[in-house]
Amino acid sequence: MPIKHPIKHFLQFKDLSRAELDHVFARSKIIKDKFKRYEAYYPLQDRTLVMIFEKASTRTRLSFEAGMHQLGGSAIYLNTRDSQLGRGEPVEDAAQVISRMCDIVMIRTFEQSIVERFAASSRVPIVNGLTNEYHPCQVLADVFTYVEHRGSIQSKTVAWIGDANNMCNTWLQAAALLDFKLHVSTPPGYTLDKSLFDANELAHLQVFADPMAACKDADLVSTDVWTSMGFEAENEARLKAFADWQVDGDMMRVAKSDALFMHCLPAHRGEEVAAEVIDGPHSVVWDEAENRLHVQKALMEYLLCGKVE
Ligand code: CP
Ligand code: NVA
Repeated sequence: MPIKHPIKHFLQFKDLSRAELDHVFARSKIIKDKFKRYEAYYPLQDRTLVMIFEKASTRTRLSFEAGMHQLGGSAIYLNTRDSQLGRGEPVEDAAQVISRMCDIVMIRTFEQSIVERFAASSRVPIVNGLTNEYHPCQVLADVFTYVEHRGSIQSKTVAWIGDANNMCNTWLQAAALLDFKLHVSTPPGYTLDKSLFDANELAHLQVFADPMAACKDADLVSTDVWTSMGFEAENEARLKAFADWQVDGDMMRVAKSDALFMHCLPAHRGEEVAAEVIDGPHSVVWDEAENRLHVQKALMEYLLCGKVE
């Protein structure tokens, strides 16, 4: 079935406007409620999702594949090792071919420029399933999870502790779109790349040398692995540099008393987060992981069917 034109991609969080985000969050709740009631909902019958993985995944693969099945469609998994993708076929050629045989593509890869190039040659919507620069589906789930637990995120303070990585970059785009503050604390030498952001986005950012100061009065504290996929060669240096940036009980105690803790997972207890935090009363990491399923179903519905009421 032909899709609506112009094609809408989700390559960065800011590819959705505030109104579109509100729609996707509202649909996420409706689609989640249907799922919980075992109510069949097949708006994507006969549609096919292709998932391309150039990096490892548990949650992203599972949530997209299960989500597409639950919406009545099917999903095909491709990885670099077992396809021509790892053998030098130009991204543009792969995009031409793959997008003629399916309705939507999710890609997890290295540089953001790869998903941008793929999208430029694609006939169907492209979804970023994580790049070195951004992880927009995860922050979609994280904001949805915050709102489920605490209501609107507008004017709230999110503290990002640790590596200024793809998750941190995406949080800053979300802060500007949804109008909340992002406190960031990273070790020296691992600071946020400000060149990725415009003045409005940077106006929502406050940088702190001391992670405790960043967490003070925060509504949400979040962190991620110290060594993201693709940066494994830096692991030893990072373990040393990040030692004082572990989110622990002391950091959570200076945050608001009802602050939430999030981590996109997989987590390393004793490195970026103390067990007492991730397994403690502030943590909503399992809801956060589950919500990948629901928000991505709403996202795929929106990209393929437009605004379903
Ligand atoms: N959070 C996340 O994207 O997890 P996976 O790497 O398991 O997909
Ligand atoms: N920042 C991490 C997220 C993993 C889901 C990475 O890129 O490896």
